[in-house]
Amino acid sequence: MNNGISITNHRNGETYEFNIINSTRGPNAVDIRDFFKKTGMFTFDPGYTSTASCKSEITFIDGGKGELRYRGIPIEELAGKHTYLEVCYLLLNSKLPSPDELLDFDIELRHRSFLHRGLHKLFDAFPDNAHPMATLSAATTALASFYKEHINLTSSDDFNKMAHRIISKIPTIAAFSYRHSLGIPFIEPNIELSFTENFLFMMRAYPGGKMHIDRQGERSIKEIEIKALDTIFTLHADHEQNASTTVVRNVASTGAHPYVAISSGIAALWGRAHGGANESVISQLEMIGSVNNVEKYIKKAKDPNDPFRLMGFGHRVYKNFDPRAKILKKLQDELKSELNLNTELLEIASKIEDIALNDEYFISRNLYPNIDFYTGIILTALQIPKSMFTPIFVIGRTVGWITQWVEFKREEKSKISRPRQLYIGK
Ligand code: CMC
Repeated sequence: MNNGISITNHRNGETYEFNIINSTRGPNAVDIRDFFKKTGMFTFDPGYTSTASCKSEITFIDGGKGELRYRGIPIEELAGKHTYLEVCYLLLNSKLPSPDELLDFDIELRHRSFLHRGLHKLFDAFPDNAHPMATLSAATTALASFYKEHINLTSSDDFNKMAHRIISKIPTIAAFSYRHSLGIPFIEPNIELSFTENFLFMMRAYPGGKMHIDRQGERSIKEIEIKALDTIFTLHADHEQNASTTVVRNVASTGAHPYVAISSGIAALWGRAHGGANESVISQLEMIGSVNNVEKYIKKAKDPNDPFRLMGFGHRVYKNFDPRAKILKKLQDELKSELNLNTELLEIASKIEDIALNDEYFISRNLYPNIDFYTGIILTALQIPKSMFTPIFVIGRTVGWITQWVEFKREEKSKISRPRQLYIGK
């Protein structure tokens, strides 16, 4: 076979041929869509370690090289150099915006950031100590009932309205979820502020929209904080077919409302093996408590009989380093003096990093600090409470989810996701 692969079943001597589909970058894929039809067998790949579940033009990762690109542009050329909103525009439109396009996009998002009054009541149904991720996921599902118009995906207007609305409302829902968990009044969006500053404003402002001022009369949102959070949003914007994005595509395949698909993505992201890791990193550092205890916990992480894992280490795809983590480590170093980052938590984190990067166990398994290892420390320095770390991941990732949703919907022959199983029961 010229451009394919042959598989021989040594049990019956039969040979089957499969085509290879070429990628533009990274590994090609064997087309096994008719594998069952030809062979009468399924393929077995729990955790999808070798399975490409879709074709995509959005994000590219080379895990060996530690490379991440959005629409072909390396992450290093975007993070901190373009705003998060420019990156959103890039993901949605396959190109960076002109100044005019950016202005229109920004203004539209500001205007769409308010929540329907009916949705405000939903928050009251949750206990005061509800985790903001629970409220965020539920309120995102509820959004589907407020915006249930038919979406015609051949109309870019319909698509844009649907995508822009969810990107702009998620920060408001996240901030309301947080304020509800504290039992304090909601702060409405301020359309005079940029996307990222507005989120910090909705988190921090006093009732009536007054900002805290210090003895020097300085407002409490610093430029450096806005830049750091904006970079964090950019680094989370998309990450190809990770667990939550796969959930979003699977829900999309059933024909459910896009906001319900996003809400399912939020639920999947919450787990500590995925986006929930950023909260777990800080909880783990607090539990370790002192640099003197680090060795003990490294030993636990290496013990095959102990389920303890170092949170913020390891990645399914990156086997060299996580390029997002590299950018954040640099940012963390820059923020050290500006935001008084020299805390005991940072000392513990640095010691873990030093030991792990030189330890045979971690080196042989390609376990490097991932994005969540650094976001926790940076967000703590921005005085953002732990419970909001994963909602912040959600805010950044919403554009990726909705872009992937649209790509799935625009495929000519999209099929419902329906894996098979290897039955081993009675
Ligand atoms: N600490 C100690 N050992 C680890 C860790 C860790 N954090 N991660 C993996 N290992 C070991 C694991 O025990 C296994 O060892 P052995 O070969 O002796 O059995 C080996 O490394 C391979 O692990 P795996 O579970 O097969 O790897 P995976 O690709 O299925 O899992 C992971 C990737 C990210 C779920 C995992 O590394 C992990 O649980 N890390 C901690 C949680 C975390 O930081 N998650 C955030 C990921 S980045 C943000 C995102 O994209 O969501």
